Amino acid sequence: MLLPGRGYEYRTKNNRETPFETFLRYTNEKNKLAKKYLKILRERIPNGFSGEISVLDIGAGEGAFLNNVLKKLLDQRKSTKISITLLEPSVDLMNALKNNFPKTAQLRPFFVNDRWEEFKVRKKFDFIFATHLYHFNIDNYLLEIRNMLFLLKGGGSLIFTLRGKDDVFHFKTKFKKGIFGVFRAKTSQVIEKGLVQLNEEGYKTIKFKSKSKLRIPIFKDEQDFVAIMEFYLNYPWIDLDEKIKDSVIKYVKRKKGAFLQEDNIFVFSKAN
Ligand SMILES: C[S@@+](CC[C@H](N)C(=O)[O-])C[C@H]1O[C@@H](n2cnc3c(N)ncnc32)[C@H](O)[C@@H]1O
Repeated sequence: MLLPGRGYEYRTKNNRETPFETFLRYTNEKNKLAKKYLKILRERIPNGFSGEISVLDIGAGEGAFLNNVLKKLLDQRKSTKISITLLEPSVDLMNALKNNFPKTAQLRPFFVNDRWEEFKVRKKFDFIFATHLYHFNIDNYLLEIRNMLFLLKGGGSLIFTLRGKDDVFHFKTKFKKGIFGVFRAKTSQVIEKGLVQLNEEGYKTIKFKSKSKLRIPIFKDEQDFVAIMEFYLNYPWIDLDEKIKDSVIKYVKRKKGAFLQEDNIFVFSKAN
């Protein structure tokens, strides 16, 4: 049995795709983020750099997003190489990640099927990516950021992205409270207060915003609609109370399926 709230949304349904992968087909969120990430990397990796850059991607997912960013970067920087450690605990997403991985001699992958909490590594990285990680306990975000920063080389950067208070935040807050009784949303606010402290500890922080759209196929494809709802609610649609289902459908119809999304990207740079 798939346990609600326990990675349900990252497991393949009906031998098709995971709810997360369905969601990805209906949003331009990752394209918009990819543009920002590419700019951040270009500014930090000198043109013509001919060594190897080490990258850690925490919760890599099915891989398309960051792979595209790195592939584009390397197409423009022919003398640069990247070794990337892809940490992903979901077996289904890890399989997709391996299949999707671009085959180019410039990119050396290390696949690690594990959770961040159990990840033991001695090496340090030039870049660490932590994009849309919502599994941490809400009170532990700063602690986890500190643990990530510990794995950075001097001069390296952690790129950490979380949702802002957007339409998805309002949707989740409304309905997850109804389903689970209590719900504290994990938006970028969970780290904002600690930024001053991290700056004082010597990390330079820059913040960027990325706006995007999600078009939920409420009138077009019932199966995909259900998958996206399961992705956001972390709960099997079939087990939801009928009243909650009705009010979810009404809510999404009222918005004509269009949700505005906002991401906050934090770049923490470590002194040399
Ligand atoms: C919303 S997805 C984001 C995936 C990818 N970073 C992206 O932006 O496309 C969250 C990812 O975190 C992974 N995840 C869940 N629990 C985790 C943990 N304890 N450690 C590392 N990754 C985890 C999920 O399996 C999923 O791939």
